[in-house]
Amino acid sequence: MLVSDKPLVIEGGKKLLNHDFQVTTLIPEEGINKAVEVMRTGKLYRYNCSVPDESEVSLLEKEFADAVDAKYAVAVNSCGSAMYIALLCLGVKPGDKVLTPAFTFTAVPSAIVHAQAEPVLVECLDNYCVDPEDLERKITPDTKVFLLSHMRGHISHMDKITEICQKHGITLLEDCAHSLGALWNGRQTGRFGKIGCYSSQSNKILNSGEGGVLVTDDPLLYTKAVLYAGSIENYWSRHFAQTDYFEELQNSIPNFSLRMSNLTAALIRPQLANLEERLEDLNSRYFELARIASTSEYIDVPDQYPQVRIAADTIQFNLLNFTAEEALKFTHIMGIEGIPTKVFGYLDNPRYFPTWKYINNIGEMAEGLPHTKEFLAYACDIRLPCYLTMDDIQIIGDTLLRAVRYVKNSH
Ligand SMILES: Cc1ncc(COP(=O)(O)O)c(C=O)c1O
Repeated sequence: MLVSDKPLVIEGGKKLLNHDFQVTTLIPEEGINKAVEVMRTGKLYRYNCSVPDESEVSLLEKEFADAVDAKYAVAVNSCGSAMYIALLCLGVKPGDKVLTPAFTFTAVPSAIVHAQAEPVLVECLDNYCVDPEDLERKITPDTKVFLLSHMRGHISHMDKITEICQKHGITLLEDCAHSLGALWNGRQTGRFGKIGCYSSQSNKILNSGEGGVLVTDDPLLYTKAVLYAGSIENYWSRHFAQTDYFEELQNSIPNFSLRMSNLTAALIRPQLANLEERLEDLNSRYFELARIASTSEYIDVPDQYPQVRIAADTIQFNLLNFTAEEALKFTHIMGIEGIPTKVFGYLDNPRYFPTWKYINNIGEMAEGLPHTKEFLAYACDIRLPCYLTMDDIQIIGDTLLRAVRYVKNSH
């Protein structure tokens, strides 16, 4: 029997999917074995290893820089820490304004607040990307940095963004927590700004529980990042990449103890090694689900710009001609069917900017972002973990169509 002939659970049918959507990527055996090996040596602290070849963290930094075509990489304990360090390295001072998209995760403006700067949110378009016109409108003489978040792997128009930043002397910093492996015109995201920041928190394409990496081509920024992350004495000599700035800056930069451990790096390395292969699978499953979903008159799956090679471990789509009540009913049904589906514009979603009360004047700022607020109310989000099969994708697509029809027909 075709999947579509089966009743939904809500109609008295059987649940077709029993996956746990919590984790995006499973840890390969190689990573588990390496982590056990590291534990047997007791050398979990990266600087327990006196030469970089013995340190999983140093090896990861080298491999990560190669993978994204950067000169330098610094591994830390989260992407939030990477963004915080990056802002300090770029010379952001208390009270400076840092622009960032209104559609992102709360950790992004939080990193700006951590650096004692002021987040200024920028409107996004229906395709989830930054609105370049609003970006330009929001630039003032106090604006130092644009922290561009490639939220859910949606890559903004990088030609326009880099042109605006150059024109106004704004430093571009990239949050690539969701875009490792995504390309714009063949170039890795994270390589358009002065610094790119990545995450290996468990809901990302690399899974080490917690973890982050920042990359740059600038030796001074790299040196500062190593020191802020917590390199003491002359431990910087235990990194592969050396610069002329270490001796001079050693005692001028505070140590924030945000290092990555060898255990974490051991888990990440084999996942990074087969990233391209995994992306091929993820992207083909994404395109199939997008195709199925787009057959509904009630669903819009925005295309990415043609310059983009996606890295899709989630899917987003907009519900068309839905009321708020219908949207709520739809996500509820999807949950019952075993496919957790979130709407970004709900008050309990940490990706809904009006709820970020730690930002001064968020109420007034939110009023100036009507477009983003409007589309987030009907923008849905489903995780697509690496272990899903094409059959699972058919079930998800089919359930999606049937849930939408059920909601629209059950008045
Ligand atoms: C868009 C985005 N940026 C940054 C982060 C922060 O990553 P981490 O949890 O590694 O600090 C997240 C976390 O989920 C995120 O979703």
